[in-house]
Amino acid sequence: MKLSCAFLQLSLAILYQVGHNQVLSLDNGLALTPPMGWMHWERFRCITNCTEQPNDCLTEDLIKSQADKMVSEGYRDAGYVYLSIDDCWMAKERDNKGALVADPIRFPSGIKALADYIHSKGLKLGIYEDFGKETCQGYPGSEFYLGQDAQTFADWGVDLLKLDGCNADVNDMKTGYEAMGEFLNHTGRPILYLCSWPAYVQKIAALSDYTAFKKTCNQWRNFDDIEDSWDSLYSIIDYYGSNQYNLSAFAGPGSWNDPDELIIGGFGLSPNQEMVQMGMWAMMASPLFMSLDLRDVQPESKALLLNKNLLAINQDPLGKQGLRLWKINKAEVWSKPLSKPGSLAVAIINTDNQGAPRVFHLSPAELGLPQVPKYNMTNVFTNKHDGPYMFSQSIKFIINPTSIYMVIAEPS
Ligand code: GLA
Repeated sequence: MKLSCAFLQLSLAILYQVGHNQVLSLDNGLALTPPMGWMHWERFRCITNCTEQPNDCLTEDLIKSQADKMVSEGYRDAGYVYLSIDDCWMAKERDNKGALVADPIRFPSGIKALADYIHSKGLKLGIYEDFGKETCQGYPGSEFYLGQDAQTFADWGVDLLKLDGCNADVNDMKTGYEAMGEFLNHTGRPILYLCSWPAYVQKIAALSDYTAFKKTCNQWRNFDDIEDSWDSLYSIIDYYGSNQYNLSAFAGPGSWNDPDELIIGGFGLSPNQEMVQMGMWAMMASPLFMSLDLRDVQPESKALLLNKNLLAINQDPLGKQGLRLWKINKAEVWSKPLSKPGSLAVAIINTDNQGAPRVFHLSPAELGLPQVPKYNMTNVFTNKHDGPYMFSQSIKFIINPTSIYMVIAEPS
């Protein structure tokens, strides 16, 4: 039923809006480097009882307060430009013309006015919908309304759409997500397209079509939601390490694997574990969507989110997703080629959570370095430059439990 509806909406769009010879693919020219911004979900969830939780309630004032901090605290100027509202922003019913409406109590000015505010700050507004009958939290989904909703978002001035896949048939997703991509294109407004489709079909080999994901979406979720804990964080890193060749081949300018939001500045990670997330999201060329309360950030977390070396690795124009070279005895090494010739980012993670720091003696070959006589290293967290090291020389690293050592290595 939904499949035929998606086809119907798609053919209507083609017939009435663009003629008959369009190629079906994403052509919005966006996301040449991994997108950066803020997303409400992991930190603020579906908190809609504003009497009970006034400080955390999902309202237009909350979104505006985060926008203000993105500017005043330097996040926007560091590259975090998207500010994305997730699930639970809507009223429970569409209006009498079938259009989506924002919750009138929590978003009394409406999304268009909010977009104007966000744009006036030099930021871009993101929004959430679901391909199925209802969103994951039970708000109206886009089933039967894909074209209308795409136009509504464009009319409001939305710059990013995260399209989730709850309450939908996985067999319809390829057609439906492609149709929504086309509807977005046809609005004429460049709208960054985030797809959750891969996460819903990833366990069904026949439906896990990365060529199609890449052709259709700017970024795609392919694994579980991140939660506020080390176990959740490491399960994502390990999934990426274990499936890296299937994933990294499809990442690059315009299209990115999305391991989910940054939980730095939340409640669940130690400072060392926060370094692991920021380091690994840089290594994996992952979209950087912070999910924290920007009104209340510890200085160490802020410094990590704004670390220039890490952002440069993440945003490197080559757009290579880093690979795990090895994983032995609760330690692993990852490597990411950078655009400067011969230059690599290297991460060593100690995933052991037993009390004491561990010592590692690693050769350049074990770090995946190319065979040049000498090279220098910059510690990305301290910005301390070391070297030159000889290629024949092993290097000693002392790494805390569940922590990371990360360098940029360059021929000397
Ligand atoms: C799914 C998504 C999350 C978030 C919630 C909202 O679980 O994967 O990122 O958007 O829905 O309900």
